[in-house]
Formats: sequence, C-alpha cells, structure tokens
Amino acid sequence: MKKVSVASLLKKKEQGEKFATLTAYDASFAKIFDDCGIDLILIGDSLGMVLQGEDSTLPVTVEQMAYHTRCVASTAKRAMVVADMPFMSYATPEQTYQNAAQLMRAGAQMVKMEGGEWLAETISGLVDRGVPVCGHLGLTPQSVNVFGGFKIQGRGDAAARQLINSAMELEKAGVQLLVLECIPAPLAKRVARSLTIPVIGIGAGPDTDGQILVMQDMLGLTAGYVPSFSKNYLETTGNIHKAVALYIQEVEQEIFPSAEQSFDE
Ligand code: KIV
Ligand code: NA
Repeated sequence: MKKVSVASLLKKKEQGEKFATLTAYDASFAKIFDDCGIDLILIGDSLGMVLQGEDSTLPVTVEQMAYHTRCVASTAKRAMVVADMPFMSYATPEQTYQNAAQLMRAGAQMVKMEGGEWLAETISGLVDRGVPVCGHLGLTPQSVNVFGGFKIQGRGDAAARQLINSAMELEKAGVQLLVLECIPAPLAKRVARSLTIPVIGIGAGPDTDGQILVMQDMLGLTAGYVPSFSKNYLETTGNIHKAVALYIQEVEQEIFPSAEQSFDE
C-alpha cells in the first residue's frame, strides 16, 4: 500500500480537498485508523494527559515518545506518521538533532515542534539533515505555564499579526506542515490561505486544510473535561470503525467542525 506523504497532503490542499487526521499511541488503534483511511496519525505528547493522567504534557520524555511511535508505526501502513518532540527536547539545535533521530528511528516520517521564529535555525538544520518538520502555533500546550492556562490564542489584532508572521517564518524555515490549535476560525483561514504548505487545525475552525482530534476526545473516552471544539463520534455510531469513518466523511464534506465547534475573533 502506498504511504501517505507530505506530497499527497500538499496535492489535497492544491485541489481543495479537506483531510482528516487523528492522534494514536498504540498499534491497535493505529491499525483501525489506518484501515479506515485516516491520512496522518500523530503520536502527540498529549499522551502525557490521556495515557499517563498528568495535568499537562510537560512530564513526557523522548524515550516515551519513541516507544509509542514504534507501537504506532508497526501498524500504520498507509497513514503518514508524525511524532511530537516533547517539552525541552528541542531547546538547542544539537540536542534537537539527537532527539529527532530517536523518533525517526522509531518510525516517524516527520517530527512536530511547538513555537515560532525562535525555531527557524533548528528547523532548517533538521531539514538539511533529512528530518521533515511540522510546526505548531496557537495554543501550544508545552507553554501552558507561560499562558497561565489552556486558553484560546491569537485574539486581537496584535496577536493575530504575530501569529501570521510566525507561520510565514516557519514556512520559510522549511516546515512542510503546520498545526494551528485553539485560535479564532477567521485567523486560521487567513493562515491556511497565506501558506503553500498544508495547515491542520484543532479548535481552529473549518477553513484549515486538514483537521486533527485527540482520539480519546472523538471517541468520548476522555475522563472529565471534553474540549468544546471536539465531537464524540462513538456516541452516535456505537462502533469505532463507524465513528472514524463518520469523522473522515464529516471533515471531507466540511460538516465538521461547525460554528459551535469553532472560536470567533
Ligand atoms: O499532542 C497532541 O495530541 C497534539 C495535537 C492536539 C495537535 O499536539
Ligand atoms: Na502535542
């Protein structure tokens, strides 16, 4: 089976086709998502919260990310596999290269990092060394203590302008995908239209090129808090395969996310 690559996602963007992606952390779920036709599986450091029960992503280590990446990569035959670089694992370029290598050896096709302009040198260094990079802007959970909580980002003219500039700088530095998390839908639309690379949103409205959800949220498995921008697809379908198929269909047909699952300016 042909692997989804960044080239296939770019082609979808160019043709105006929306695509659906999910997080996964193990071989069983990765196989189901792969069989259902999910284009990209992210081994998110959200595993710190949904698997480990921590109240942030900060405790997650590179070793843990590599372990879960290996689990997912073993069954993700078609889906593109992207792994998160965890908190403080990309503080300097040299450190980043070693840590990214661990995730690539574990089966990732790309690594994801949270941040803007300050990452430019690290990103171009990684790309030069054969490691594709996905950016992540907006509500970047590793900075929860700087934000003072999990809060929507990019509201107001100054913050919006800053986010657009960061997105352009990341693209210039060489990122081939960009995740936007919890920002106003009109801002996400502007970013997706300004960039050539595919932009994937979560809590970023309907106008990004792709969507991503944390699998526990979309299956209604998250104990306690369920984010307002997510949707429980298991409740109405009663079966995981059908839930994932419906999610893909709703993203492709631009039914999900609706206005109630989006933030305004
Ligand atoms: O860790 C994660 O699951 C993520 C997605 C929410 C984009 O970074
Ligand atoms: Na993450």
